[in-house]
Amino acid sequence: MSLTTDHYLPSLRPVPPDLGRKLHHNHMEQLGIADTMRLAYACNQVENCAQDEWRRQLYQDQLQELMTANGQFTVPAIHLNDGWAIDDSMSLPHLDRILASSEKIIAERSGQRKSEPGTYRSYFQDVWKPGSDPLDYPEFLDFATSSDILAPICHYVGCIPALSTTLPSGIRFVESNAAFDDQPDRPHDSQLYHIDYYSLPNVYVLVLLRDTTREHGPWTFLPRSISQHVKEQLGYWKHARGYRLSDEEVFSVANPADAIEFTGKRGTVLFIESSGCLHFGSRNSIQPRFQLMLGYTGACRTDFSETFMPPKVYPVQEHDSLLRKLVLQKSLLPGPV
Ligand SMILES: [Fe+2]
Repeated sequence: MSLTTDHYLPSLRPVPPDLGRKLHHNHMEQLGIADTMRLAYACNQVENCAQDEWRRQLYQDQLQELMTANGQFTVPAIHLNDGWAIDDSMSLPHLDRILASSEKIIAERSGQRKSEPGTYRSYFQDVWKPGSDPLDYPEFLDFATSSDILAPICHYVGCIPALSTTLPSGIRFVESNAAFDDQPDRPHDSQLYHIDYYSLPNVYVLVLLRDTTREHGPWTFLPRSISQHVKEQLGYWKHARGYRLSDEEVFSVANPADAIEFTGKRGTVLFIESSGCLHFGSRNSIQPRFQLMLGYTGACRTDFSETFMPPKVYPVQEHDSLLRKLVLQKSLLPGPV
């Protein structure tokens, strides 16, 4: 099969935007999360089956070749265990460049509330500039597409992943700050436990951009096996069940001691399946928390966001490796046989 990269699928979208938006509304409230996900996956297969199949085939048959062309490995292989892995070696490629650039971005953009009181998730601000930052700070996408970062994700999802183009944003540079929060002492929204429904699996790579302690409102999660037990016991994702769970609900069937807080030195990296592990973050960030969030999905999502959201576009150059192009261009298709 030829690996030319300039072919795209004509639109075969079976769900109109208004219906997609309606089914997506308020965390898939109308049909319930699990049933909406099943329906979305079936509908998205109509449009994305060729990409999905190609990405799975490339993973099975040509992963080594793709990785070699993309760049050498620089650290020992990372493996997600029970839905997560932490790398605190401080030696992942381009990490030093990211940390240096982050200080410039933080100095320039942090500490300023951008939203009006009452704004959705006011405590959580993404200061990434999608138009100019990938060009001004190419190290972020260099990191996101490096072989060391991609290999564990490829093995976890069983295909060549793509940086998410709708939900969650594929790349975010976030400041969490209780000073921006309308109700800092009462957890709400993403400060409560939940499991993401965008894609199965959805994998995050989170990078601490400053030293992070409990006072910074760390990303907090339960390992996958415990999360799935809680999900089953509580009937979570079923129709008429809310998306967010209180601590009391979660710990009625789980042990609080099993919760893991993503704290540590700047440059520490967490790989996690957010579609499998219960998690929350940015809860009472008395100290501002700065975190890079990279979101990876397969080609066929389990939500309807693509029906009503314009896809994010990441810059690609002709000389980029095929692996990098696949990660940055979700709709890429194989060329003619
Ligand atoms: Fe989430």
